[in-house]
Amino acid sequence: METIRIGTSGLRASRVALGTWAIGGWMWGGNSDPDESIRTIRSAVERGITLIDTAPVYGFGRSEEIVGQALSGGLRERAFIATKVGLEWRDGKVRRNASRARVRTEVEDSLRRLRTDYIDLYQVHWPDPLVPFQDTADELARLLKEGKIRAIGVSNYSPAQMTEFRQAAPIHSVQPPYNLFEREAESDVLPYAAQHDIGVLCYGALCRGLLAGTITAATQFKGDDLRRDDPKFQEPRYSQYLAAVAALDSYARGRYGLPVLALAVRWILDQGDTIALWGARHPRQLDAVQDAMGWELDDEAKKHIDAILLQTVKDPVGPEFMAPPLRSESALAA
Ligand SMILES: NC(=O)c1ccc[n+]([C@@H]2O[C@H](COP(=O)([O-])OP(=O)(O)OC[C@H]3O[C@@H](n4cnc5c(N)ncnc54)[C@H](OP(=O)(O)O)[C@@H]3O)[C@@H](O)[C@H]2O)c1
Repeated sequence: METIRIGTSGLRASRVALGTWAIGGWMWGGNSDPDESIRTIRSAVERGITLIDTAPVYGFGRSEEIVGQALSGGLRERAFIATKVGLEWRDGKVRRNASRARVRTEVEDSLRRLRTDYIDLYQVHWPDPLVPFQDTADELARLLKEGKIRAIGVSNYSPAQMTEFRQAAPIHSVQPPYNLFEREAESDVLPYAAQHDIGVLCYGALCRGLLAGTITAATQFKGDDLRRDDPKFQEPRYSQYLAAVAALDSYARGRYGLPVLALAVRWILDQGDTIALWGARHPRQLDAVQDAMGWELDDEAKKHIDAILLQTVKDPVGPEFMAPPLRSESALAA
């Protein structure tokens, strides 16, 4: 497993990380089987995946609890736990809240659920414009000093928001959406991160499974699965993305003897000092991790990939549909 340092934190982690949103169930079709989820997390660590990314909001505590259970009994020290802060939920409705008080409450809840006394990387999940960025940053800097967290990250932040945050605390990592189909970060977040020595955790590495290469036009998504509303999964765009996956798969097999999934993950790793967040809820979904290790895409291959995308995806759309709402002013007063 390739490893990488996390910005200026002095910490290192694996370049492929396990994403545990689906393990929480919420927005992924309902509760996952806890035993299968625990097997998945343990299997990730056995394969050398040290970075486990979770969040309180994933299943409203469930994902963190399962991560804590999976790592208890000897695996905690081998793992690098990245969790998040700054989303609150009430009656199944999620809103941003990165206030100092919320940070203090959440960190204790996360430590308890994760069965640990420190969090390796604590990330602000979404920018909350109702709270000064420097207030949130200052509270995270205090947690760092207290040893409750070992590194500070932000997620879904713009460069301007990061600059404000950095007035009060260092940023060791940023977590934008980034995969072959969602490349907005290339124009702002990636260059900013490179300039300021900030690690980049790329979320949605498989574009919610599309780039795994197993989804077809006939695939059904159940219950609250977010792919039922994801604009990439609606016609006429869906056929364009599926055609892109088929063409990328054929190229990957012909040139490297590997499936599209390996190409998609390798592509992220070859875009800079990046980590690919790979969501999985079954151990077998991680069988292909080794296929993405130990080789590199050259410039010619990257150009060929870009040409495939241009030819197939005529009407691209980003991941904006996932953004949670702000609190209303009335909720703030409450
Ligand atoms: N900071 C943020 O705002 C934010 C937002 C989104 C995600 N994230 C993080 O990034 C992680 C990854 O993103 P993601 O989970 O949204 O999506 P993803 O990694 O793009 O896709 C994950 C899904 O792909 C499918 N998959 C994975 N491996 C497969 C394989 N070998 N064969 C076939 N299908 C496979 C699985 O779907 P099925 O199980 O349905 O088959 C899996 O749940 C999340 O878990 C979370 O930790 C963060």
